[in-house]
Amino acid sequence: MHRWLFDILICPHCPNDSPLRVEAGDWDGDRLENGTLACPACGEKWPIRDGIPRFVPEEKDYAGGFGFQWKRWRHTQIDRLNGTNLTEYRMLTDTGWNRDFIAGKLVFDGGAGAGRFSDVLATMGARVVALDMSIAIDACRDTTRVHGNSVQCVQASLYAIPLRSSAFDAVHCAGVIQHTPDPEKTMRAMPRLLKPHAPLGYNFYEMTLSRRLQIVRAALRLITPYIPQGVLLKLCLTMVIVLFPITRVISRIRFLRYGIRFLPICASHQPELCRNQQLEWTLLDTFDWYNPRYDQPQRHVRVAEILAEEGLEDIESGPGIARGRRPSGETTAA
Ligand SMILES: C[S@@+](CC[C@H](N)C(=O)[O-])C[C@H]1O[C@@H](n2cnc3c(N)ncnc32)[C@H](O)[C@@H]1O
Repeated sequence: MHRWLFDILICPHCPNDSPLRVEAGDWDGDRLENGTLACPACGEKWPIRDGIPRFVPEEKDYAGGFGFQWKRWRHTQIDRLNGTNLTEYRMLTDTGWNRDFIAGKLVFDGGAGAGRFSDVLATMGARVVALDMSIAIDACRDTTRVHGNSVQCVQASLYAIPLRSSAFDAVHCAGVIQHTPDPEKTMRAMPRLLKPHAPLGYNFYEMTLSRRLQIVRAALRLITPYIPQGVLLKLCLTMVIVLFPITRVISRIRFLRYGIRFLPICASHQPELCRNQQLEWTLLDTFDWYNPRYDQPQRHVRVAEILAEEGLEDIESGPGIARGRRPSGETTAA
């Protein structure tokens, strides 16, 4: 943990952004690797382990399966390591931000996973707080270590974010909202982090007709979130080995391509990826379909309403995305 992160950490439970103090552990210059944080107001304590302040007791981590997932595939979707700009393109398209805006900004990446977006943001010159509830945050720290102190990792829940209000130049959250137990509460948790005039970008699963028609996937999901991850991996591997070659052929046939989404694997055939990468992404995305405990697609029109209720303006939304901006010089509803 670098001192700049410590300066914006607060108690996640006390009102009025109550600052924390370091109760145990020695700063090595501006860094603290291991120690204990405490809230002088309520007395609660949290460990700092391997440079990451940890606000989630293990037994409260419903997202533990993501730890398995992002440790296994921690390099797969990192642009810097896979030779593509798929993550950069997706983030810039979803948020409407550009490189000039991002450079020099302090950005919050909620539910960072293995850090694909945090890594891209840091590559573009941002300082990033990457927050995740699961031990995926350790994969994120390993991924983003190359950026020195620019990316700081926090293990915490979006339902109790231990970060100061109005501290961030931008808030980003992709692929997370549908995987939380109360998506509306998740969406309402982040606007308070924005500085006046700062933008927010959400990406989420959209509730579509084709998603409703994914009957085999829905049936399998009745059990898959509850089986051990090693067993689930074998199941996904079997389905992918059998079906991936078929989807690869179908993906080249114009009128049949649409049908791929009704198969029980999440086939990935981006032309930027070689065959082996497509296979690996397909296995990862298929595991990501079946592993999460919660899977609750949203309607973007409703997401836009929620952002408006939270006091944001300049709201835009479309299938799977929503953006907004905190008004200049005003406080949000949170
Ligand atoms: C599908 S992954 C997306 C990761 C990353 N944003 C990406 O797109 O690659 C969802 C992530 O959300 C995290 N997550 C789920 N619920 C959370 C919560 N309440 N607070 C923080 N993180 C959460 C999981 O641990 C997981 O790493």
